[in-house]
Amino acid sequence: MRRRIAAGNWKMNMGLEASVELARKVKDFTGIHAHSVDIVVCPTFLSLARTAGELEGSGIAVGAQDCYHESQGAFTGEVNPELIRDAGGSYCIVGHSERRTLMHETDKEVNLKVKSLIGGCIVPIICVGETLAERQALDTMNVVRGQVMRAYAGIEPEAAARTVIAYEPVWAIGTGLNATAQDAQAVCRAIRDTVRYIYDDTTADSVRILYGGSVKADNISDLMSEKDIDGALVGGASLKAAEFGKIIQAIAGMIQ
Ligand code: PGA
Repeated sequence: MRRRIAAGNWKMNMGLEASVELARKVKDFTGIHAHSVDIVVCPTFLSLARTAGELEGSGIAVGAQDCYHESQGAFTGEVNPELIRDAGGSYCIVGHSERRTLMHETDKEVNLKVKSLIGGCIVPIICVGETLAERQALDTMNVVRGQVMRAYAGIEPEAAARTVIAYEPVWAIGTGLNATAQDAQAVCRAIRDTVRYIYDDTTADSVRILYGGSVKADNISDLMSEKDIDGALVGGASLKAAEFGKIIQAIAGMIQ
């Protein structure tokens, strides 16, 4: 049985004190669920170490929002998996659609990042998803399958099995629109079948697949009733401890 994940992507929000304060509230409201689901919060790089310090011993993990694939050296402005781990991080989001769009991140770069994270013992949360134009052109499955295939190029099955994929339709991120649970399930199923095609049943049945895109307390339960959805990557709603708490509770509730 796959352990569920509730991950909060804080994006470029929350200064140092605000991050620590939000982490404390998440711990107070929902720390109790950390034994049954993996709870992860992803602050900015600047707040990562202090947030991890605040959450130490709580069972709540901390993740970064991006990384660079090189191990060290003259790469001004970049942060590698080793530095993320040193600061207390154990997860890292890669290939988020905002980075693919705004920073022109490619599938090749996503693949390099996934490899470096695996090497650095950090769990990658690999984001995939179609744009509105791609959806309207009925191209969703092709786009998502291609992103998954390229993200895992050259990665061994044992390592792939421990990664996390987040299906985030680009048109649903931060827009208040979200895929129906049935639509999200169909794509998450196709993602799992793609992992099966690349590897084998064991790997496909181990990979955890999250849905992301305007997840809220009032739509999470429907999503979590679907077979191939193992949790959520939450943006805006993860900045409010009470709302995120309800989402975590719903994710945990389904397995009690
Ligand atoms: P949202 O963001 O929940 O605000 O739509 C999700 C994400 O970008 O990971």
